[in-house]
Order: sequence, then structure tokens, then C-alpha cells
Amino acid sequence: MDLNLILEKVIKITKESAKFTKEDFTTTEKGSHVNFVTSADIAVQKFLEEKLVELIPNSAFFGEENTKSLNKSEYLWIVDPIDGTVNFSRGISETAISVGLVHNEKPILGVIYMPDKNELYHAVSGSGAFLNGERIKVSDRDFKNSLFCTAFSLYNKDYAEMCINILREVYHDSVDMRRSGSCAMDICYLARGSCELFFEFRVFPWDYCAGIVILNEAGGIITDLSGENIKLDRPCPAIAANNKENHQKLLEIVRKHIGTLPYEEILR
Ligand code: IPD
Ligand code: CA
Ligand code: CA
Repeated sequence: MDLNLILEKVIKITKESAKFTKEDFTTTEKGSHVNFVTSADIAVQKFLEEKLVELIPNSAFFGEENTKSLNKSEYLWIVDPIDGTVNFSRGISETAISVGLVHNEKPILGVIYMPDKNELYHAVSGSGAFLNGERIKVSDRDFKNSLFCTAFSLYNKDYAEMCINILREVYHDSVDMRRSGSCAMDICYLARGSCELFFEFRVFPWDYCAGIVILNEAGGIITDLSGENIKLDRPCPAIAANNKENHQKLLEIVRKHIGTLPYEEILR
């Protein structure tokens, strides 16, 4: 299979799907007052599902707004139709459409498009990472010169205090922090060298699948709490950095604060 040909088509389809973000939309709560879906999320996902599965025979599709459960097949599309739905629903431009392709459980292609900024990030394993066609790479800043992107356990605020303690410790040792409201964007900012550290307590494969390929191809690292490759079949903590040293230091801080929390249970 010619992955470069697939990539070209995925870029075109992803950009086209953004047309639904320019139309009027409605917003509804998804199970709680902090979790939302808009009619644009649904429209973008429907469009992507129809177009992407046509590109690879027998490929499966898994999107955030899916009603179906994860179907394991050789090729799997993992999609977040709008990452940053709260931003989107309030007219804040930090939103991204995120399309990842997994082959035999390994992410091999990532396309992330930010419609309001017209920024298109892409990567295929082994071929580098790009922003609007220009090669990108992570920065070489050390920890004390790092910018930290993070979030605070949005969907279970019982763990927010612990996230704030992690932030407090990193903040004192680094330059500053950002909370963009889009995990996919945070990972792209890391890949292009605008920030160096990222931690989120519990994110989902659609939030980071495409980002893994883009970040790795830009020279960065993203793992779960054990320092292993981040999972693609369940929610996971995400710890990412521009280099090994910064990743290790961030991982140690995160582990210290998570301490004896029954982490595996929380993730189910
Ligand atoms: C959310 C964003 C946000 C992160 C949440 C995600 P959504 O995705 O990535 O930055 O903190 O954990 O769920 O709901 O806007 O697609
Ligand atoms: Ca998301
Ligand atoms: Ca989403």
C-alpha cells in the first residue's frame, strides 16, 4: 500500500471535513455539565468515517462520537472530529480535527488540522513531521526553559488537586504553563518546538493517536505512566516531552504525586 498516496487523500479529506465547523451548530451535554458535543462534531465525524474507510479496504473506524465499540482490524482509523469542543462551542479558535491511522496496533500516520488557524500538521512513520508542508522538530530547551501544557482532570474533578500539585512543582522549575483546551493542539505545539512538556491525567486514544506519530517524527516522546508506549485501546495518562531528560524528570514528578492512587482502576 502506498502510504504517501493515502496521506495526500487524508489531508484533503480532513481539510474538507472542516467545512462543517463553519456552519451554525447546536451544543448538547454528554452525560455531565463539563462534557459536550455539538452538531458539528457529529457532522465532521460522519463525513470522515464515510471517506476514510473507503481509502483502505476493510479498515475499521473509531471516533470519539462513535456509538460502536473498538473493532480490532489490521488498519484502524482513530479520529477526534473536534478536539477542543468547549473552545469551539464558545468561539475560541483553539480546536483541531485529529485523524490517526493504526496498523496492527501501531500508529503509522497522523493528520491534525486546525481550521481557524489553517494549520495542517502531518506525519507518516519514518518520514518526518510537517506543518503546512514545512519540516518541524521539537525544541532543544532544557527543563528550566520549558513551557508546560497541561490540564486538570476535567471529567473527574476529585483528581484535579493532584494535577494542580503536579503543575505547582513543574511551574516552579520551568518558564510557565498553558491550558489550551485541546490535547491534539498541545502535542502539535510540542512537535513544532513551541512548548516542551505535556501532561494530562486521563486522555483517550482519539485525543493523542495522530499526535503520537507527529510528535515522534518531530523527535519527541510520549508515554503512559509506566514510561511505555501510550495505549490505543483505552484511556491513558499522557506524559510527553521534547527529549528523554525532560520526559524522565516530568515522569518522576507525575509518579510522585500520583503515588499510591489505584491508577489502573481509575483508567477503566
Ligand atoms: C478534550 C480536550 C481537552 C482535554 C480533555 C479532552 P474534547 O477533548 O482535548 O484539552 O483536557 O481531556 O477530552 O472533548 O474537546 O474532544
Ligand atoms: Ca478530544
Ligand atoms: Ca472531541
